[in-house]
Amino acid sequence: MTTIDLSKALVGADQIAAFEPKVAEAQKALEECTCKGNDFLGWMHLPSSITPEFLAEINACAKTLQENCEAVVVAGIGGSYLGARMVIDALSNSFGWLQKSDAPRILFAGNNIGEDYLSELIDYLQGVNFGVINISKSGTTTETALTFRLLKRMCEQQRGKDMARKVIVAVTDAKKGAARTTADKEGYTSFIIPDNVGGRFSVLTPVGLLPIAVAGFDIAALVKGAQDMEAQCGIDVPFAQNPAAQYAAVRNALYQSGKKIEILANYQPKLHNLGEWWKQLYGESEGKDGKGIFPASVDLTTDLHSMGQWIQDGERTIFETVVSVAQPNRTLLFPSDEENLDGLNFLAGKRVDEVNKMAELGTQLAHVDGGVPNIKISIDKLDEYHVGQLIYMFERGCGISGLILGVNPFDQPGVEAYKKNMFALLGKPGYEKETQAIKARL
Ligand code: PA5
Repeated sequence: MTTIDLSKALVGADQIAAFEPKVAEAQKALEECTCKGNDFLGWMHLPSSITPEFLAEINACAKTLQENCEAVVVAGIGGSYLGARMVIDALSNSFGWLQKSDAPRILFAGNNIGEDYLSELIDYLQGVNFGVINISKSGTTTETALTFRLLKRMCEQQRGKDMARKVIVAVTDAKKGAARTTADKEGYTSFIIPDNVGGRFSVLTPVGLLPIAVAGFDIAALVKGAQDMEAQCGIDVPFAQNPAAQYAAVRNALYQSGKKIEILANYQPKLHNLGEWWKQLYGESEGKDGKGIFPASVDLTTDLHSMGQWIQDGERTIFETVVSVAQPNRTLLFPSDEENLDGLNFLAGKRVDEVNKMAELGTQLAHVDGGVPNIKISIDKLDEYHVGQLIYMFERGCGISGLILGVNPFDQPGVEAYKKNMFALLGKPGYEKETQAIKARL
């Protein structure tokens, strides 16, 4: 079960209840496809529409990559990257990407333009039997296209054209974009990103499912978690029992009361990239028209030793949402020590997680005392099923929350601004006017 606890949110029950009609309106608009951005609502019933046959197709492709590759580079950025990274990190061993010994090493690229990053990746791949999953909905994103150009050539040179054809897979639009043209010309296996699913809502399409399957994880269980959460967040579920509705309502109530920053906090290092994925989901969906909560994230207790001061005592415009994992997958007890020089024998025999949980509770109480409202989202354990639940809960909460805020949660017009300037500065054909204008500003 995934639950949401608002008892320390420092918002009266009446203030949350005041949002019930707005939540109902947003849910209706999402269900009936009458809201802003209604051509991007394919994520709404995506989990329940995924068939076993579709999962089998993804698993078959993953098997080909597993059988033929020591490493697989997942090339993609933003919504074409963060979902897979988040799930794989959450489920993997903390000190390596591998959880299953027979799975290839998963590397992520195409999410930056760092020359050192790409050069070091190329160095690492020398002599390695690697494959590539090239993920881009538009098929034209510079970061990903540049990386793919380098990897395609290297893969063909290293493994030969025929094997390259087998181990390069495209996840892209059905018809348009350079990634589609290349996939069709070269005869790569390819998967389609549905038109009506935006990048940041696409983790349960092949964008996320294929890399997750290649990494050896159970995509059926991930989807089942999302399906169950889809039912739990449905329009017919009463407001008080609907976690996505509650989350959307409380964060809007807090925003109205002057809380402009939300930090997503975790107490499990494996959830670092949950924060990265969530920041894109909420930041890109709500940060527009001069509005929107600023989404930030912290890894605790690590960041209590860096950001803890600000959170406890800084400007009181912040609230936190903690993702709490009830049970770790492993057991480790604090050892007793005869000399007890560090004075920690009072912990001997306790589970490390008990200490972590007391740190979590102590931090919650301290932050609440310091005027930081606390929303607690709890999952039983870190496995595919519960990560699937979190994914859908946050997606549904985001759709509802953005509509309450009055923005179109499904577009991202602001993302184009840097691209236009970059292309003008690089002298891309077709950008001559912009090049002149930008040069005049320098
Ligand atoms: O959410 C989004 O739409 C963006 O983050 C995109 O996913 C990102 O810009 C990558 O785009 P594309 O998949 O077209 O390469």
